[in-house]
Order: sequence, then C-alpha cells, then structure tokens
Amino acid sequence: MLGQFRKEYVALNLPNTIVDANSNRGWSKRSLWRWWNQLSRFQRSVVYILILAACFAALYFLPATHPSWNPSNGKLNIALDRNHVTPPLSLLSPKKAQPPDNSLDKEQPAKEAHINNNTQKKQPMLDKEDLVLSGETANNNNVGQVHSPPRDGVKFSGSTNERQAAVVAAFRHAWKGYKKYAWGHDHLKPITGTFHDWFNLGLTIVDALDTIYIMGLKEEFAEAREWVANSLHFDGNRDVNLFEVTIRVLGSLLSSYHLSGDRMFLDKAVDLGTRLLPCFDSDSGVPYSDVNLATRKAHSPKWSPDSSTSEVTTIQLEFRDLSRCTGDPKFEDSAAKVSLHVHGLEKSEGLVPIFINANTGHFRSYSTITLGARGDSYYEYLLKQWIQTGQTIDYLRDDFVEAISGVMKHLTRRTAQNKYLFIGELLAGGRDFKPKMDHLTCYLPGTLALGVHNGLPQEHMQLAEELMTTCYQMYAQQPTFLAPEITYFNIQERTTGDMSVKTNDAHNLLRPEFVESLWYMYQITGNKTYQDWGWQIFQAFEKYAKVVNGYTSIGNVRNPVNTRPRDMMESFFLSETLKYLYLLFSDDPHILSLDKYVLNSEAHPLPIYDT
Ligand SMILES: *[C@@H]1O[C@H](CO)[C@@H](O)[C@H](O)[C@H]1NC(C)=O
Ligand SMILES: *[C@@H]1O[C@H](CO)[C@@H](O)[C@H](O)[C@H]1NC(C)=O
Repeated sequence: MLGQFRKEYVALNLPNTIVDANSNRGWSKRSLWRWWNQLSRFQRSVVYILILAACFAALYFLPATHPSWNPSNGKLNIALDRNHVTPPLSLLSPKKAQPPDNSLDKEQPAKEAHINNNTQKKQPMLDKEDLVLSGETANNNNVGQVHSPPRDGVKFSGSTNERQAAVVAAFRHAWKGYKKYAWGHDHLKPITGTFHDWFNLGLTIVDALDTIYIMGLKEEFAEAREWVANSLHFDGNRDVNLFEVTIRVLGSLLSSYHLSGDRMFLDKAVDLGTRLLPCFDSDSGVPYSDVNLATRKAHSPKWSPDSSTSEVTTIQLEFRDLSRCTGDPKFEDSAAKVSLHVHGLEKSEGLVPIFINANTGHFRSYSTITLGARGDSYYEYLLKQWIQTGQTIDYLRDDFVEAISGVMKHLTRRTAQNKYLFIGELLAGGRDFKPKMDHLTCYLPGTLALGVHNGLPQEHMQLAEELMTTCYQMYAQQPTFLAPEITYFNIQERTTGDMSVKTNDAHNLLRPEFVESLWYMYQITGNKTYQDWGWQIFQAFEKYAKVVNGYTSIGNVRNPVNTRPRDMMESFFLSETLKYLYLLFSDDPHILSLDKYVLNSEAHPLPIYDT
C-alpha cells in the first residue's frame, strides 16, 4: 500500500517535464537576443522588475519548500515552513537501519507469503473519509523529509460521553493533588501529601503532557508547557536510567511536539537526546543502563555488569523519531545498531534471555526467558519499529513472528480447572517452566492485535483473545477487582482454583498494560465487551485507589477492607492508564488512528513514517 504512494510521489516530483517543455520550444540563445533588442525601454524595465521580484520570491520560499504527496486527499501539498531549516540533500536521503544481510528488497513479494492477505480489509471501521473527517492533518512524512507536525496542532474534541468525562475527572483529581503537593517533583505521595524524586525531572508533568493534550484540557496544558519551557533542565548532576528517561521523558516531549506543533518540545528533546547518547559508547554498542545527564558519563547498573534486554531494545522508536524530526541521523543510527546487534545474537526460537552485557554484547547465559519484567518490550518494539518504518525493515517483523511462535510453543499452558491460557516463564536458560505471569505481560494481546491489524498471522488474534480473558480473570477473581503484580497459575490436575497470589506479589501499582490491550482490542475488533471490562476496572480504581489527594498504589488486592495503600502515584498512571481508558471509551474508535500513530511503551504516540 505504502509503496504505491511512494511511486506517485516520485513521479510528481521529477523536474524532467519542465526541462523537456523548455527544450521543445526550440528557443536558441540568438533568437532570445533578437527579441530583447526589439523591446522598448519601458518593456525592458518591466522585464527587469519581474526578474528581480522572481529572485526575491525564490529566496524567501525556496529553503523550506517541501512538496509532498498527501495520501489522504490525493493532493500535492507544498508545505511552507520558514521556521524550519532544510538540511542538506545528503541528510535528506532515506535513513533507515541497515537491513541485515539476509533481507530482500523492499517490495518482498516472496516473503509476504506467510503474512495474511487481510491487509486490505484490515480496518473494518476506518476508511479514507474518516481520516479526513477526524480533522487531523495527515502525515506528510515522505521519504527523506524532515518531519514537521501541523503548525496549529492536532485537534481533539474533549470528552463526548459520561465514561470519558469520568476519566477526565479522575485525571483532574490526580493532577490537583500533584499540583498541590508535588509540583515539579517526579511523583506524588498522595496519602502523606508529599513527593518522591527519582530522576528530578518533574516526571509526572512531562509524562502527562500528551494525555492532557488528548483530553483537551487547555488550562492544564498551558501550565505544564510553561513548566517544561522554564523549569525542565537536564543539567542536574544525577544518574538516570536510559530506558526510563527515554520512554517517559523523550517519548512524551516528542509526542507533545507532534500533537501540539510547538517547537519548544523538540528543542528540549534534542537537548535530552544528546545527553543520553554517551550510553552507546560501549565496546559492543549495546548501551549502558545509566548515564549522568550533567557529566555525560555512562555506566552499567551498580548491582550488575549487565543491562536488561528489554531496556536496551526499548529506546529505538524515540531515538529514530528524534532523528526524523531533526534530520540528524546520529540518534537513530545509535539505537538501530542495537536492534541489529540483538537480531544477530543466537536465540532459542526467537526468545531472548533478560540480561545482556554492554561490553561483550552477549546475553547472560541461563538467565530467565519471560514476557514480563526485563523481557516484555523487546518483543513490543520489534513489531512497533517495523510499523514505525512503514513495514520496510523485514528482520523486525520476522523476529517478532518467530518469537510469537516460540511463545506459543514453549511459554503457553492452560490451567487445569477452566483451561485459561497463560504465558509462563522459562528459568535456567529454558530448563524449568514456572507458571507465573506478571501483570506486565498483559500488554501482549494488544501488541498481537496491532500486528494482525498490520497483516500478521490470524492465529495471533486467537492467542490475543484468549490472553484477554485470562488477564480479565486476573482482575475479576480478586475481591477488589484489581489485578496483583504477579499471578501464579494452577496446572496440576485434580486441584481447584485457576490462579493464586503470593503475599509479596499482591500489590497493584495502577499499571496500564491490561487497559492498553483493551484499547487495541476494542479498536481493532469493535467488540464493546472490552469497553465494559475497562469500565469495571476503572470503577475499581475509583473505589480502592482513589484518596483525597490523588490515586495511590495499594499493597493488597485480596482484601477490600485492608488494601494497604502504598502512598505512591507513579507517572504512568497519568501517562498510560488514564490515557488508554480515555481512548477506550471514545465514541470515535479512531480518535488516535493506528494507521497514523504508533504508541511507544509509555503510551506516547509517534508518527508512522513511510520508511
Ligand atoms: C497472498 O496473496 C498473494 C498474491 O495475491 C499470494 O501469492 C499468496 O500466496 C497469498 N498468501 C496467503 C497467505 O494467502
Ligand atoms: C466479545 O468479546 C467477548 C470476550 O472475549 C466474547 O465473549 C464475545 O463473544 C465477543 N463478542 C463478539 C460479538 O464477538
């Protein structure tokens, strides 16, 4: 599909037609001179003035003229953006991760064979008209352009029904407590009315920016923008975690730039991205986990020589986008190299151990294989990078498809009683199976559905639907209707009960993964059951996590009369949980079109490019 647009773009921009037209007229230099001599003095002055005016006009417009093909309305757009400095042509050439040796050319007719032929009918509820009616400006990110968002920002209508209004009210409640007790700090402690700092980057404000924008909260957006513009500085002498800061801060700054069109956010993103780059100066190119933003010294975590596999492979969407927005390839190149390196490592049926050494570039042998903590978003970013780059980097898709086959074969089991399908873990390099599933793993059905939406095998959808039921049960079987951090599944025959929870795992941190999947599943299938499940969970948050000054994580989902509040509201509650719920309840299921945006691991939407 995208290939078509690319071809038309090329045809429209070939200057040959103009050259040919001129030469056909057959004007020689001599006849031009004769014509000139026949003009009166006045006529010559007029010609001089016209030429001069043409020169001025050219100087004024030329540096920022991007002709572009707008696929949604079929018109050739000339974007005139004088604030935007066009990079030299060398930078405008298509930038993408070097394909691996085994990759074929872009069109890939042969390799498409194992992909479903449902790409044409993949969007039952979306057609071209919806794209135009939604009022959003279609992406003009054609091959080799520096991407600039719509100048006036993308328009959102604000809440349009009671459920959405309730989510907005929840957001404002959280925001009010944060503003009163923790403004400018990373997290609110809503019970004691104090704050918690982790990186000293005002995480809650930054992480919530695009949620605020999407909810249409103008006043809150103005105060958050003001804080970012004047008080967000990256020169604090403090170590930060590359992955966390990339997905939360860099991701949100880039999203805010794309949605609002405000260049200040991009300037901040460039400053931050530049300070994070030293992480990649390891022997292998696999980044160190931590960096000091002031001294720009990077190092491994204090507790280990290794980085987490998911952390080093969950920064690529953001660094690529930063390069696409600035025309400076160094961000994308550093991060894409890591993906390519991990692609080249030996895996067992696409599954990766959770630790990797930045100096040797090798996995730690015998470490756990899981789709939960430290493994999860490796798989997520394989698919999402493939989508972000217009489905042009085949190894990403192939590694994802292979990994999902590996998951189906080695990590899935059913409970004895109700045959719920779940995903467990492999310990000791694959020798022992542990029937334990992190709530984090509940991101997977949404990601699988996103893959099927983009033409991946239909059997992924069956896995997604079954996992949705299991994740829903993780909530529904608790008396608080909130899922614990970790659930164990019962696979022994002749026992009762499908799942159990250990005391140390019984907390709920207001995490988003299941409501994230609910949104994808609802958007892709249109099945309203997913909205109803989301509403049940939202009400459980209202009942058991809401406190006077915000929302708190709780220590025990098993006891409604003693939930053991933990006095902590993490930034992802505003960035992800409430955003996904708001999107899930939207009357317009394509409020944020999956064909235009890919959401990073912290729910920050970034544009999909053609290449
Ligand atoms: C998809 O369609 C192409 C051409 O129309 C065909 O060659 C290919 O075998 C089909 N693949 C599947 C999985 O049906
Ligand atoms: C919607 O999803 C629920 C939960 O998986 C399922 O029970 C129901 O049959 C689905 N409805 C339709 C119309 O597919």
